[in-house]
Amino acid sequence: MKAAAASKYGSPDVIEIKNLPQPIPKDNEVLIRIYAAVVGSTDPVFLKGEPFISRFFSGLTRPKNISGDVFAGEIEDIGKNVTIFKKGDEVFGATDINMGAHAEYRCLPETGAIGLKPENMSYEEAAPVCDGGLISFHFLKTKGNIQTGQKVLINGASGSLGTYGVQLAKYFGAEVTGVCSSSNVEMVKSIGADYVIDYTQEDFTKSGKKYDIIYDAVGKSSYSRCKNSLTENGIYLITTPSPSAFISMLLGSKSKGKRAVFAAGGLKPAGEKAKDLIALKEIAEAGKLKSVIDKRYPLEEIAEAFRYVEKGHKKGNVVISIK
Ligand SMILES: NC(=O)c1ccc[n+]([C@@H]2O[C@H](COP(=O)([O-])OP(=O)(O)OC[C@H]3O[C@@H](n4cnc5c(N)ncnc54)[C@H](OP(=O)(O)O)[C@@H]3O)[C@@H](O)[C@H]2O)c1
Repeated sequence: MKAAAASKYGSPDVIEIKNLPQPIPKDNEVLIRIYAAVVGSTDPVFLKGEPFISRFFSGLTRPKNISGDVFAGEIEDIGKNVTIFKKGDEVFGATDINMGAHAEYRCLPETGAIGLKPENMSYEEAAPVCDGGLISFHFLKTKGNIQTGQKVLINGASGSLGTYGVQLAKYFGAEVTGVCSSSNVEMVKSIGADYVIDYTQEDFTKSGKKYDIIYDAVGKSSYSRCKNSLTENGIYLITTPSPSAFISMLLGSKSKGKRAVFAAGGLKPAGEKAKDLIALKEIAEAGKLKSVIDKRYPLEEIAEAFRYVEKGHKKGNVVISIK
């Protein structure tokens, strides 16, 4: 099978398209023919192996895995004990920590983070739902306990986590303010934000407005700066670890009121992710969730996709087509 793999850590120049043996499903596994994957904002981090801590997942001296952690495709074969899925099922999902979605095939246990693909989405539209959609669902629903009528601000509303975050917050009945740059204002309005703040013109922490949830999807703010923009019991959700968020999390466990929460959504147990995928499929099929796709690349040009993503300005998602 064709797969994108790097033999050493480095820039996108180290990526090679290799011919590797096709995996064979174990008794409890499904074999997925992957038709679409994603280059997400964390993929260049694992490719570089920086910060060093990332290498505890990806290999200490060199990358041990094929890259890519989300996919959409078709079940091509099943192990003899598999009961949940059958050959021909169209699925979407996330791999385990061993990655491997930038390839034609991947085997996963049937109890992995796999769900039936939304019927109204193509493979290319469905794969990125398992990146920003799954993570924002985890932050807003599981960690933020988002409620109808709440005022929610989403910083980084134009990224993968942000575009799904805006739509999910609207779906859960919140009044949504998106924060993005001038060139993304119309796009963020088009996916349902009630208000949009252009961060190049205005600092949302100085407006005097208060929010029940501030979800910093892009991790460019800090809890200390945002604290005054939270309501009395407001919650600050941050996707990248920060010292002020950790201090607040430690103190917050002992007291009520405003608090900050960081979570590693990617490390959520596979069974729980699979449940979230069922919810996301329903939301998508109700017409309440769309994928914003900035660029598409064939697998052979995946290095270009990495170069584009690592600049940090993508609008929504960058998709890899694996025909
Ligand atoms: N904790 C977890 O489980 C988890 C999981 C996945 C990802 N993450 C992290 O989540 C973050 C976001 O991921 P993503 O894939 O959504 O990123 P992304 O798609 O690469 O986000 C980039 C977007 O953010 C906008 N942006 C850049 N600087 C901004 C600023 N100062 N204020 C507001 N918007 C800004 C960019 O547009 P402009 O440059 O035009 O503004 C671009 O549209 C990454 O840091 C990633 O590592 C965390």
